[in-house]
Amino acid sequence: MINNVKGTTDFMPKEEASKQKVFDNLKTVAQKFGFRQICTPIIESFELLAQKQGDEIRKQIFTLEKKGKEELAMRAEFTPSFARLFISNQKELAKPIKWFSIDRVWRYEKPQAGREREFYQFNVELYGSGEAIADAEIISLAIESLKSLGLKEKDFIVNVNNRKVLQSLIENFVSSDIDEVIRVIDKKDKVSPEDYKEMLKEVGVEQVDKLIKTLEETDVNKVKGASELKSVLDLLPYDCVKMSLTTARGLSYYTGTVFEIFDVNGKFRALCGGGRYDNMIEQFGGQPTPATGFGMGWSTISLLLADKNLLPDEELGPDYFIAVLEEEREAMKLAAKLRQHNTVVVNLVSKNVGNQMKYANSLGAKNVIVLGPEEVKSKKYKVKNMQAGTEKSMNL
Ligand code: HAM
Repeated sequence: MINNVKGTTDFMPKEEASKQKVFDNLKTVAQKFGFRQICTPIIESFELLAQKQGDEIRKQIFTLEKKGKEELAMRAEFTPSFARLFISNQKELAKPIKWFSIDRVWRYEKPQAGREREFYQFNVELYGSGEAIADAEIISLAIESLKSLGLKEKDFIVNVNNRKVLQSLIENFVSSDIDEVIRVIDKKDKVSPEDYKEMLKEVGVEQVDKLIKTLEETDVNKVKGASELKSVLDLLPYDCVKMSLTTARGLSYYTGTVFEIFDVNGKFRALCGGGRYDNMIEQFGGQPTPATGFGMGWSTISLLLADKNLLPDEELGPDYFIAVLEEEREAMKLAAKLRQHNTVVVNLVSKNVGNQMKYANSLGAKNVIVLGPEEVKSKKYKVKNMQAGTEKSMNL
């Protein structure tokens, strides 16, 4: 027996239908906010993917064996691909531009609950507005997306921060690379308090306790960049939205608002993460353009939905099962007719009617039609409702 690759997931029909139903909901919400779906290639040049992501994702990129000169890799997130597509159409596009995708990405991670090597992201990006209302729209979309799945505001928490605020708080404590310190702060809740302190020391923070205290107790009203943070928060009338000075985000491209969403009990890893990255478009060779967006992961969302009994249970049973022994031509004609408006399964292997009924039952068929010589001759069929056990006559 050959197993699936470590960190990947197979979806059986029920699970796939459930996932697709969730994706349909997310798509509908994105479209209600005026976002349009795009589709970009799975493989990109390694250069594009590795350009601007901070060390962590860079190490996790799945590279492909070279076939020619090009160095190719599989996307580990959508943000660089979206940026590439935006830049190559930048002149013609009326800004702001609002795009989304729901698809797979790959990262060489240590697989664990809610953390896979192949996973799905609902990814949203907005180009061409540097204003607080754009960040607020992005965060509202994330919140409304979760609510569209049946989650309540009390089920999750949206931690909002601003990179400028964080940077000005950290500045006083380190002379070295601030991005390194931000990456450590991003890990705060994933490691023990002792390890956290140790890691801060390692990246050059001298007064570790004082920095931790500062992040916990600072009055934001007195901090640089804080007005930006407050304007965004002012536009978000949701109880689940909280200001959080320790929310850092691991990726190095963020320049302003950053946010992360967790289940309220902290049972699972992040459901969603995003923020503003106003330098990427220019750094990738485009006209300077402000940008903001988020990625929401199916792995953690599905764990939370399952925990709350909210995973959609999609009905896969066909409307009709046609049981047949000899009259296959007629069965196919009848099926074609019924399929104009219904889902129809025709019996495909010779077995007796009793076994065909068992199979119809296992499929969850709502109705069964038995087609024999008599039915064909009289052009009248009996339709058995499998749930009610009732029968009615139908003409072809
Ligand atoms: P990220 O925080 O790396 O951000 O990923 C966003 C979300 O994807 C996470 O909150 C989590 O739900 C899910 N996710 C991440 N890694 C895994 C994994 N290994 N297995 C399962 N799910 C995972 C980004 O990707 C940014 N590109 C988001 C963004 C878009 N920022 C601005 N625009």
